[in-house]
Amino acid sequence: MYLLSNEEIKEKVKNRVAKISVIGLGRVGLPLAATLADRGFDTLGIDINEGLVKTINAGESPFEDEVGLADLLKRTVAEGKLVATVSLEERDLNVITVPTLIKEEEPDIDAVFAVANAIKAPQGKVFSLESTVPPLTTERFGEIVAENTGYKPRKDFGMAYSPERIQAPQVLRDLRTYPKIVGGMDEKSGFIVSEIYSCFAPSIIRVSSPVVAEIDKITENAQRDVNIAFANELARICEVYGVDVYEVIKTANSQPYCNILNPGLVGGHCIPMDPYYILSAVEQRGYTANLIKEARRLNEAMVEHVAGMVEGDRVVILGLSFKPDIKTFENTHTLKLIDALKAAHEVVVHDPFLDEEVFEFEVEKDFYKAVEGADCIVLSTAHSVYKKMDWKELKKRMRGDLIVDVRGFFDADDVEANGLKYKGVGRVFSGFR
Ligand SMILES: NC(=O)c1ccc[n+]([C@@H]2O[C@H](COP(=O)([O-])OP(=O)(O)OC[C@H]3O[C@@H](n4cnc5c(N)ncnc54)[C@H](O)[C@@H]3O)[C@@H](O)[C@H]2O)c1
Repeated sequence: MYLLSNEEIKEKVKNRVAKISVIGLGRVGLPLAATLADRGFDTLGIDINEGLVKTINAGESPFEDEVGLADLLKRTVAEGKLVATVSLEERDLNVITVPTLIKEEEPDIDAVFAVANAIKAPQGKVFSLESTVPPLTTERFGEIVAENTGYKPRKDFGMAYSPERIQAPQVLRDLRTYPKIVGGMDEKSGFIVSEIYSCFAPSIIRVSSPVVAEIDKITENAQRDVNIAFANELARICEVYGVDVYEVIKTANSQPYCNILNPGLVGGHCIPMDPYYILSAVEQRGYTANLIKEARRLNEAMVEHVAGMVEGDRVVILGLSFKPDIKTFENTHTLKLIDALKAAHEVVVHDPFLDEEVFEFEVEKDFYKAVEGADCIVLSTAHSVYKKMDWKELKKRMRGDLIVDVRGFFDADDVEANGLKYKGVGRVFSGFR
């Protein structure tokens, strides 16, 4: 496809003759593969996990909470548009969505390079890297393929970086509603990826190079991390003066150019991770990104700060998911909070989305059983079900009387009117009210 004229490429895409592979069928890759199959492309999903491949080929979704995925998979697999396999096969367009990790604040992108090393026949093909990576990884990917095969990027095969900007559990919706960014290594690579993605994305933003797109992806989450750090700093300032940070934020945000986020603990796959994809990479090139680095430190320090608000022996944490009203327990801020508390407290976790999962800490699915005998309750994730809490019943069941609110979720007056003590991030009122 890479060696065809633009007119021939357009025809091949329009007639859905272009064949696609998606390498890495996780949270990101599988909904993308199903979307491409749904738009009529012959799509091969490739993953090293045999169990996962079997599940997909049975038309079943491995991600229960991903909205709409179960139906889409069932249909696209039944129609033969999406097939999963463990064997790598280079196709016209090859999308790479394998995992990348942060280990001790350093990026681990071995899975991306494992794919680069497995490519045997790149000629005429295009590779679109979509995993989150440090800047210049797409360039390095192309070099590895060239070193192994003798075929050259920009001459024999195309390469692009196209970041995944979606959020589980609404990946299908986000794919169809967010502009797709495409940074081709050359005009032809960008053209091919854009033509194919135009089949489902509402718009394409072509940027001048893969490195622009790589930095864009990191920037989107690093700016959120920095903005949350600002809100956390403001929360600490408000605690010193005994005023409500949410009152200050609401007041300040009435100015059209002011847009302060809410304070709290930062969890999830992206915001607390993505800044690390730039920090050491740019430092190796002689620049220290102090603001991004300090924002990370400040946000991480909030875990100890919240732990310091806790009193008593038995602490019940409400909410394990990394954001409200979804079931995703990996990389959550609550895990960090548990770590900070467990040496000095007996910790019990309640989450309405808990099922039969096994953890190293105590969990209780029944809310009122969980809070029985608690000295302190910490609201860590603002699941909407906690709004319906019966404070009187809670007070009866607790041994102590402290409510620690990490998210500014409860009405402090309400809590105190029920004979309980209230402390929140940016809302430490004692002695001032
Ligand atoms: N999960 C998110 O919300 C999100 C959002 C935006 C970007 N991202 C980025 O997208 C990338 C993928 O994330 P994810 O959440 O889908 O990961 P995931 O762990 O859910 O899935 C990755 C899949 O890749 C497979 N895999 C690993 N090595 C492979 C190889 N060599 N060949 C083929 N398959 C292989 C794994 O078996 C797994 O099924 C990461 O870089 C992540 O940072 C994730």
